[in-house]
Amino acid sequence: MSNYEIFVYGWIAIGFLSFPFILRYDAPYGRHTSNSWGPLVDNKIGWIVMELPALIICPLLVLSSGNPLSDVTIFFIVLWVIHYFNRTVIFPLRIKTKKKKMPLIITVLAFFFNIVNGLVNGIYFGNIKFDYSNSWISSPEFIVGISVFILGFIINNKSDTYLISLRKGKDKGYVLPREGLFKYVSCPNFFGEIIEWLGFAIMTWSVAGLAFFLWTFFNLVPRALSHHKWYKKTFPDYPRERKAVFPFIL
Ligand SMILES: NC(=O)c1ccc[n+]([C@@H]2O[C@H](COP(=O)([O-])OP(=O)(O)OC[C@H]3O[C@@H](n4cnc5c(N)ncnc54)[C@H](OP(=O)(O)O)[C@@H]3O)[C@@H](O)[C@H]2O)c1
Repeated sequence: MSNYEIFVYGWIAIGFLSFPFILRYDAPYGRHTSNSWGPLVDNKIGWIVMELPALIICPLLVLSSGNPLSDVTIFFIVLWVIHYFNRTVIFPLRIKTKKKKMPLIITVLAFFFNIVNGLVNGIYFGNIKFDYSNSWISSPEFIVGISVFILGFIINNKSDTYLISLRKGKDKGYVLPREGLFKYVSCPNFFGEIIEWLGFAIMTWSVAGLAFFLWTFFNLVPRALSHHKWYKKTFPDYPRERKAVFPFIL
């Protein structure tokens, strides 16, 4: 087994081992934020700092590898940069969370998560599989994967945009969401993000994409369950048929 394989399978194993613990706690940011987790930082700055390593490390490793990158490999990295430019720069500028805080520990943990995720993917696409052929784009993996990725990206962004639009003026409270996929699940933004990275894993048919998809699942399914419980407790008229994250399933 190569050093890279030990690294990435170890990272996946840590994900499986962490999942029961992530399920047990409400990650303390956003509506679950709490000052019992130590010092706090500004919410928007926290978002920018914690996502930055992913935006920088993966493309930097790929571009500096010195290997002859194929057009398809470059295309995958462009998708990565589009997603992370949105998450690191555009999303924090759009959210209406002025004066809100998140625990520093969340920023630090997510910062390290994004370093490792950036390394896992950057090393893979820069040094291991940098030569996807042009014919890859007519493979079933690519066609299915890119379709799922685009669908997930649209669902994620439309749902985040809708959530952001719920706050009017100086209001910092929460509103019962009623439109689009919110009729079916409490957290369609997380559903979109999970299937986006499932699509990436399929279209790249890579262990790096698989690791990212699994970690996204491990992070966001527990958060969706926490949000769902919170919505049911907070809004007495919360629609009973609505699921947490996967329509009709969970
Ligand atoms: N790949 C990964 O592992 C990963 C991990 C975490 C997050 N993400 C992505 O990052 C994005 C943000 O995550 P998040 O956990 O912050 O999402 P979230 O809890 O759904 O919140 C998204 C934004 O909408 C606001 N909001 C949510 N529900 C609202 C409501 N009912 N009424 C009014 N405003 C509401 C939130 O404000 P507050 O902040 O004030 O609650 C926040 O600004 C998502 O797209 C998610 O998929 C990805």
